[in-house]
Amino acid sequence: MLEKLELIKSKVEENLNNINSISNLNDLKVKLLGRKGEVTLLLRGLKDIPAEKRSEIGKIANEVKIELEKLFMEREENIKQKALDIRLKEEEIDVTLPGLPIPLGAKHPLTQMVDEIKDIFIGLGFTVAEGPEIELDYYNFEALNIPREHPARDMQDSFYISSDIVLRTHTSPVQVRTMEELAPSLPVKIIVPGKVYRRDDDATHSPMFHQVEGLLIDHNITFANLKGTLMLFAKKVFGNELEVRYRPSYFPFTEPSAEMDISCVNCKGVGCRVCSYTGWLEILGAGMVDPRVLKNGGYDPEKVSGFAFGMGVERIAMLKYGVNDLRLFFDNDKRFLSQF
Ligand code: PHE
Repeated sequence: MLEKLELIKSKVEENLNNINSISNLNDLKVKLLGRKGEVTLLLRGLKDIPAEKRSEIGKIANEVKIELEKLFMEREENIKQKALDIRLKEEEIDVTLPGLPIPLGAKHPLTQMVDEIKDIFIGLGFTVAEGPEIELDYYNFEALNIPREHPARDMQDSFYISSDIVLRTHTSPVQVRTMEELAPSLPVKIIVPGKVYRRDDDATHSPMFHQVEGLLIDHNITFANLKGTLMLFAKKVFGNELEVRYRPSYFPFTEPSAEMDISCVNCKGVGCRVCSYTGWLEILGAGMVDPRVLKNGGYDPEKVSGFAFGMGVERIAMLKYGVNDLRLFFDNDKRFLSQF
């Protein structure tokens, strides 16, 4: 019996390394060590061996069986390890390969324009204020000295949500909202970037557009302060050689009121199609805050004064970058956007 066992063992040792799959290995294992396997059957013969020899032979036979089991186990480990090595090799990562490019976006040109305007005024000590786009008729019109049924309302036809609630037609309502918040402390020195809405739609007007409002209230503020501030702003945006002029105008919430023109960025004032051969481009409305508006905001017009201005961001961006159709800003065409 022992001879037969040794013979089986040496055959296994000889052939085991030729088996390369777990299933083949298992087949052989069952054939030898399974319930009806060769080795199992041989060991069953122990009971026919005379008792005095049985325990010694049994011991050796059992050791051989254990060695066989160990051989199978080692081979199994070996096959698994090889398979793992192959898989790892296939999935190997070359860390020296260049990475996949991540396409970088950029800020929308209007956002860049607003940021630039904000930076200039923040540099002059203004802080940024905001207000709601869905606004009370009171703040959008009445507090700004534009009563119901007053013809001045026609200047800015709005989208009404109810008779008291409108989509704001300008950023000026934030003037009164901020005054109410701060009064009576001084100075009030804010800019207000934001979206506004009007019932217009053509190559230079969009039903939604952006404005930046400015408001400065303090003791002894004069029109000279307004001119100095806006001149500096215009030169920062359009360059130092630019010229500025003011034309008398009308806004119900400023008195006196003016429009500020800059010398044409295209022809430098000579006259061209961009400036309709006038040499000038209108870029914003401004004026001294009307006493009634100061009062509505909680300030005493006998003691303080202020100036305000409002500009259209799209218009300034169009002039600065030579864009001839406002709608390009809202088409989201990458060929346009990637130029900024
Ligand atoms: N709110 C005015 C407009 O939208 C602009 C403006 C603001 C004028 C502040 C004077 C003072 O046309």
